[in-house]
Formats: sequence, C-alpha cells, structure tokens
Amino acid sequence: MVRVLFVCLGNICRSPTAEGVFRDLVRREGLVDLIVTDSCGTGGWHAGDPPDSRACAEAESRGIEIRDLRARQVRKDDFGSFDYVLGMDDGNIQNLLAMCPPEFTDRVKLFLSFAPEVGRHDVPDPYYGGPDGFRKVFDMIDKASHGLLADIRTRHLDAR
Ligand code: 4NP
Repeated sequence: MVRVLFVCLGNICRSPTAEGVFRDLVRREGLVDLIVTDSCGTGGWHAGDPPDSRACAEAESRGIEIRDLRARQVRKDDFGSFDYVLGMDDGNIQNLLAMCPPEFTDRVKLFLSFAPEVGRHDVPDPYYGGPDGFRKVFDMIDKASHGLLADIRTRHLDAR
C-alpha cells in the first residue's frame, strides 16, 4: 500500500479538497486497493467538522463529493504511517518538520512540488477570501494530484 496524507492549517479548505480530488483520481484509475488517502490540519480548531461549505460547493461543481470528510489534527504517528506527508504551504511544512521524527523528514513535501507547471510553490489559504480563491485552489490541487499519481506510479507501482 502507498499512503498519502494531505495537510493544511485547518483541514477544512485545502487539504480536504486535495484528499477528495486525489481520492476521485485513484478511484477512476482503479487503484483503490493500492493507495490510501487521508488529510489533517496542523491546527485542531476544526476537529470533527466537515469541510468549509465553499470548498464543498467548488468540489461539487467539478463533480467531486467531499462532504463526508471530517477534520482532524496531525499526530506524531502520522509520519511513520504515511509515505507522503504533503503540506499546502511553507507554514504547514515548518509546523510538520517541527514535530516530525528525524527518520521521516524526507516524507514531508510541498504538494505543489508535483505540479511545476503551476509556477508557484504554495497553495494559498482561501479561507478569508471569496469563491474565486476556492476555484483557483481547486485548479492547482487538480494539477498536483495528477503529478502526485505519476510520482507514485514511478516510485511505487511500476515495479510491480
Ligand atoms: P485550510 O484553511 O487550512 O485550507 O483548511 C483554513 C481554515 C480555517 C482556518 C485557517 C485556514 N482558521 O483559522 O480557522
């Protein structure tokens, strides 16, 4: 199994969108038995909450359902449990590295490192903006999801 964890600050906007988009891609590619997905926040304020209604609406408009997801805070044992621990921005990466056991730091990466064509390295926090921010964030996440799957195929699946 390949395990992927998407991480943002609140786990109600960016990382559940990433989990939903990537989960949908994994299903369409017939890889559900090989790839496990989850998401969490570095902060715990929204633990137990469903994704933000604006994130749900944007995903739904693209045919992706994320209302079933529930927020949780990152745990120290996540670093040993997931092969990919993907932060949405530099602040997420700093917070993750501050709690990551040294043997697992190479698992912590910026999600957009899998989409160089986007031309930026962070997925901006859309929480305090309007619906346009959620649309842009969705497009970045969609591109990075395809890049991530290509990386997983190369590094983990092609050798099977
Ligand atoms: P996210 O957005 O990190 O993409 O889920 C945020 C959601 C909530 C907060 C910050 C960012 N907040 O401060 O409550």
